[in-house]
Amino acid sequence: MNYFILLSLFATIVAGKSPRLKFVLHEASRFHFSRPENYVSMYHPEGSDRLYVGGRATLYMLNFTSGGVSNLEITAASDQTAIDTCKAKSSPLELECDNFITVIQKVNDTLLVCGTNAGSPRCWMLVNDSVLTDVQGNGQIGPSSDISPPYPSQRSISLPADGSLYSAMSSVGGQAGSIRRTFGSQKLLKTENVWLLNPQFAGAAIIPSSVKYKEEVYFFFSEINKTARVDEEPYRARIGRICTVDEGGIRALLADSWTTFMKARVMCGAGNTQQQYNNMKQAVVLTAEDKRAGVLYGLFSNAWGRTVICAYSIEDIDKAFSTSKLKGYSSSFSGSRPGTCVRKNSTAGDHADIKNLGVIRYHPEIEDVIRPVGVAPLDLPTDDQITHAVADIVLAVNDEHYSVLYLGTDQGKILKVLHTSEGVFIISQYSLFHNEGPVLNMAIDSQKGHLYVGTAMEVQRLPLADCSRYGDTCRECILSRDPYCGWDRARRRCLPIPPGHNNTTRTLVQNLDHSNSSVCGEAAALKQRRTSPREVMVQSNTSVFLPCPVRSFHATYRWEKDNCVRNYPCLFSGDFCVLGPAVDTPLKNGVFRCMATEDGFKVEVISFRLVNDGRLLAASLVSTLGPSLLLAMATLWLH
Ligand SMILES: *[C@@H]1O[C@H](CO)[C@@H](O)[C@H](O)[C@H]1NC(C)=O
Ligand SMILES: *[C@@H]1O[C@H](CO)[C@@H](O)[C@H](O)[C@H]1NC(C)=O
Ligand SMILES: *[C@@H]1O[C@H](CO)[C@@H](O)[C@H](O)[C@H]1NC(C)=O
Ligand SMILES: *[C@@H]1O[C@H](CO)[C@@H](O)[C@H](O)[C@H]1NC(C)=O
Ligand SMILES: *[C@@H]1O[C@H](CO)[C@@H](O)[C@H](O)[C@H]1NC(C)=O
Ligand SMILES: *[C@@H]1O[C@H](CO)[C@@H](O)[C@H](O)[C@H]1NC(C)=O
Ligand SMILES: *[C@@H]1O[C@H](CO)[C@@H](O)[C@H](O)[C@H]1NC(C)=O
Ligand SMILES: *[C@@H]1O[C@H](CO)[C@@H](O)[C@H](O)[C@H]1NC(C)=O
Ligand SMILES: *[C@@H]1O[C@H](CO)[C@@H](O)[C@H](O)[C@H]1NC(C)=O
Repeated sequence: MNYFILLSLFATIVAGKSPRLKFVLHEASRFHFSRPENYVSMYHPEGSDRLYVGGRATLYMLNFTSGGVSNLEITAASDQTAIDTCKAKSSPLELECDNFITVIQKVNDTLLVCGTNAGSPRCWMLVNDSVLTDVQGNGQIGPSSDISPPYPSQRSISLPADGSLYSAMSSVGGQAGSIRRTFGSQKLLKTENVWLLNPQFAGAAIIPSSVKYKEEVYFFFSEINKTARVDEEPYRARIGRICTVDEGGIRALLADSWTTFMKARVMCGAGNTQQQYNNMKQAVVLTAEDKRAGVLYGLFSNAWGRTVICAYSIEDIDKAFSTSKLKGYSSSFSGSRPGTCVRKNSTAGDHADIKNLGVIRYHPEIEDVIRPVGVAPLDLPTDDQITHAVADIVLAVNDEHYSVLYLGTDQGKILKVLHTSEGVFIISQYSLFHNEGPVLNMAIDSQKGHLYVGTAMEVQRLPLADCSRYGDTCRECILSRDPYCGWDRARRRCLPIPPGHNNTTRTLVQNLDHSNSSVCGEAAALKQRRTSPREVMVQSNTSVFLPCPVRSFHATYRWEKDNCVRNYPCLFSGDFCVLGPAVDTPLKNGVFRCMATEDGFKVEVISFRLVNDGRLLAASLVSTLGPSLLLAMATLWLH
């Protein structure tokens, strides 16, 4: 396998913002679909080992255990008449003429499952984890077509909040697109068509408040101006918000519509430069419990399909919505500001309220533009196309909260990223899948510490606290900068921070803000450390390649000969730093040491002693093996 070293010898050079560590996982718990699922919806009850996955005419109920994954499937076929009608009218969408499960959500105690049903959406409830039946209950449910789109390529978002379901439907063809309350005991409401311009939804989140009635739901989407000229940007990224207490307007005005809807423009790009990312593809929000503070991460793309992540402060967004002027409205407000969440108190709406309805109806957009924290997109590797993002907030040993992003790529990889006020640090990259398809969906469980990742072929689970991979020294543990892990001084191991960790005993150490392992106090020991050289016999007329395994991609690797008389750069080849004849190196007798420098310290990784045995390599062997393979085969000993 390591022969590849030779093939791609000159291929790669280490990049600064690359992941620090790269892991290839073979053993992770995984479930393999029996046929590809190109649209994958997920629902994971927090704190459980269960993942519900919606696919084509199938609801998969997966149980993850340490031993593997068990699966129970419920068939949810579409009506034959629906399929026939679908096929008759929509030839380009014929592949979508089936029941794709698009929504799986728990609302109150009802597990609601909706599917496209070949162009005429349907909803069921899942009873006893075994039967899909018609939806019943004391609440009301809107038409299924308001909850699930008719075809899976039309994006929809659903979010349960406070016993109701909120649904956002992207616009397609001549259909307007909407944000609605679709299920629950509260009044079912909708957006006015003029409020949204061909919206394509990217996500939704509850913004909690210490006062219940001030709770809001944010929706993230892009609007498309279909009449924009070719030289104009057709996309505009947006945040829309509504209050959960909203019960609609009066008979004459906004009777079945939101009375608290407002929207704002979101920018992602460096300052006012041309390089803007206007198409918001996905969004996630991290909030601290009961607090209106937190961060929004938006996944954006530009016209060339390049993806970036921008981060926004929820406090900034909140402030914009509560102080900005409204577009096209210059008069003063009477009574409370339009769009403010207020408890329904007086039964007869007073005059000021009615005036505010008019303001909302005709001027729902604020003038202020929402800009990212740190002004520009996060500094992430550019060679990865990000297809999906989830985030977690982690309480570290120093009692501070740290944000961790998990970014799925089009190659089926996951980047684990620490985001602090200083910027991003890419902790690691996981290669998870047998088939390198794009990551289609993810679900995160902060409570149990799991990440679920789905592609069209597989679903996998991996631990958020993956501390044992970082190695068994304090330095390696600290330099990982993984907020889930700390070095246990007493047990001398890299361990997950236990929930409710009490920092007064100071047994666990971390240093998340900088790559600096001075807390370990190992500096002196590191300088002394030597590896014992592996002896290699060389025939005098063969070329030699010395492999050094790369662990940290943030370290610099050099080869030194005979105690640093001379040193040589190396060639990167996959996960090896190789010293070879190509760099004009006298690879003859002597000791060659591979040194890695990171965090100001030089550490010896591996060493070889080359011994010229004076013989010449037999031609027959050379012709069968090729001369340079000989040392490469030495790499096989390393593993
Ligand atoms: C999965 O787990 C649930 C609850 O732990 C259990 O009721 C169910 O029988 C399990 N299903 C399978 C397929 O193992
Ligand atoms: C669900 O289980 C309960 C209790 O076992 C049973 O009474 C009920 O009939 C089941 N419902 C369905 C739809 O199977
Ligand atoms: C949700 O539960 C609450 C309290 O248990 C109840 O009042 C409400 O009617 C339920 N909503 C639905 C839609 O069933
Ligand atoms: C869409 O673009 C056209 C052409 O620039 C412009 O005239 C129109 O006002 C835009 N529509 C909206 C809603 O911004
Ligand atoms: C209605 O508002 C009045 C005055 O603001 C307050 O005293 C009263 O408690 C409120 N009623 C309810 C049901 O919240
Ligand atoms: C321990 O936590 C407290 C807050 O609970 C914090 O003020 C203190 O700085 C922490 N101590 C250390 C050593 O990080
Ligand atoms: C942490 O441990 C110390 C000593 O054991 C104790 O006095 C303190 O109350 C604990 N703090 C918390 C937040 O549990
Ligand atoms: C690491 O931190 C220590 C103590 O804060 C400091 O003296 C040292 O210069 C830092 N090392 C690097 C490489 O920044
Ligand atoms: C090494 O020398 C031997 C003897 O002269 C010769 O047969 C063989 O082809 C040489 N190998 C290489 C790689 O030049």
